[in-house]
Amino acid sequence: MPTPNPFLLMIGCFAIVGCSQSVKTQESSTEKSSYYTEKYRPQYHFTPEANWMNDPNGMVNYEGEYHLFYQYYPDSTVWGPMHWGHAVSTDLVSWEHLPIALYPDSLGLIFSGSAVIDWNNTSGFGTDEEPPMIAIFTHHLMEGEKAGRTDFQYQSIAYSLDKGRNWTKYEGNPVLPNQGIKDFRDPKVFWHEPTQKWIMTLAVFDHVEFYSSADFKSWDKLSDFGLNEGRREVLWECPDLFPMQFDGKTKWVLLVSVNPGGPNGGSSTQYFIGDFDGTDFKNDNSPETILWLDYGTDNYAGVTWSDIPEEDGRRLFIGWMSNWLYAQIVPTEKWRSAMTIPRELSLSNTADGYIIKSKPILELNQLRSKTMSLEQTAVERSLKIETDSLDINKAELAVTFSGINSDEFGIRLSNGSENVTIGFDAIRNKYFIDRTQAGNSGFHQEFAQRQWGNRLVDDTVELRIFVDASSIELFADDGATVLTVNIFPLEPYRLLEVLAKNGSVNLDEFILWELNSIWR
Ligand code: FRU
Repeated sequence: MPTPNPFLLMIGCFAIVGCSQSVKTQESSTEKSSYYTEKYRPQYHFTPEANWMNDPNGMVNYEGEYHLFYQYYPDSTVWGPMHWGHAVSTDLVSWEHLPIALYPDSLGLIFSGSAVIDWNNTSGFGTDEEPPMIAIFTHHLMEGEKAGRTDFQYQSIAYSLDKGRNWTKYEGNPVLPNQGIKDFRDPKVFWHEPTQKWIMTLAVFDHVEFYSSADFKSWDKLSDFGLNEGRREVLWECPDLFPMQFDGKTKWVLLVSVNPGGPNGGSSTQYFIGDFDGTDFKNDNSPETILWLDYGTDNYAGVTWSDIPEEDGRRLFIGWMSNWLYAQIVPTEKWRSAMTIPRELSLSNTADGYIIKSKPILELNQLRSKTMSLEQTAVERSLKIETDSLDINKAELAVTFSGINSDEFGIRLSNGSENVTIGFDAIRNKYFIDRTQAGNSGFHQEFAQRQWGNRLVDDTVELRIFVDASSIELFADDGATVLTVNIFPLEPYRLLEVLAKNGSVNLDEFILWELNSIWR
């Protein structure tokens, strides 16, 4: 067994007070000590109290609240007739569960979509003083699908005049009927100031289409994008189009989730960077270029918040932390699926063009409680780190390496018999998360795998890692390469090791924080 490095210095553990989070629940503040303690239950990620959840929907900020709606089936832990579940937060960290916002009706199930504040009351649903919150979603008519029709998905709207608590569906629904395309869904809408129109981005089978409207109630087609671009011959879902700034320049970013066809298998989210003139989107890159927002298998259908106040100005993202390959059979019992941690997206420049970086939002820092750090040290083969007083299953790590003289290095969490490794392969110049031995993987043959993420910037190797019971999120190089991965260890991890294969590396920085639970 390798001995600890003599230069290793423990700075010790200390608790920061005042970090506790409060969460109200549907059954009012439940005092049950077992609340959110089930096996694999994330402690600081959003999960529904019970049953099935997939895509985040209708994320909008209004009067100090961040709304998170989500694809929800309240009667089972597998996908079924979709509703919009609902939660709100004032800081994107703690969440308050609210009653279901949208129920299926005679036009169909409530599939994915978006929400905005209609500040100018263009829809007439509110007043100038009280602008309506409008949700636009896909109605999916099961009966139509079963009857073999092709026009069973269409776009409908609903509005709320009381901060998203009560919703009225528009009597003129659907607002965008279907001309006979089976996959015609997931509208994401924003107000386009130069043309004074609402712009909708819609996923249409293997590409996206843009539509515009002056009043939310009737929509005209503007253009198509993607018939020959990006990941081809797969289903495109959950698009999002928004402007971003870099060095005073505006570029438009188009997120598109694809299923299957992800870089490590199954569903994943690609993005395009280019220009949008109010009608057409033009890709900066060659049609063959594929940019991935997250290389891991477990970040899908993510989109960004609408109506973030100008003085904040961030582009805030959340994704569904699972994969259609196995989402319905993962070994959780009471609920299925979590959302990723909220992330701030930013535009960055590389030798090969613009990229999107994803970073954990700053608000998450308030969850930090006990901490420990190491002095700078060299690592050869293995450095075991004493973490007994911290729970590494709900933790954040900031680790920086330099002096790279090793083929492969990184961090390993283990419970003695199972382990997950998060690291960098210096020969392939790629980041990875290896979950081949991370825990239960028997539910799907492709689950036990090493997942790879391209390195896009050439710098010191800098890892920021979030561990939460059944997930690992790696933000490498300040969010240039991201890997989000589910894991299901049979026992919690308790051992932490820094590994360096065939040579040595310098561990420049190592800080570990235990994070507080937001649910207890
Ligand atoms: C993406 C998706 C969407 C659809 C929803 C149905 O995960 O397939 O395209 O609206 O899930 O739940």
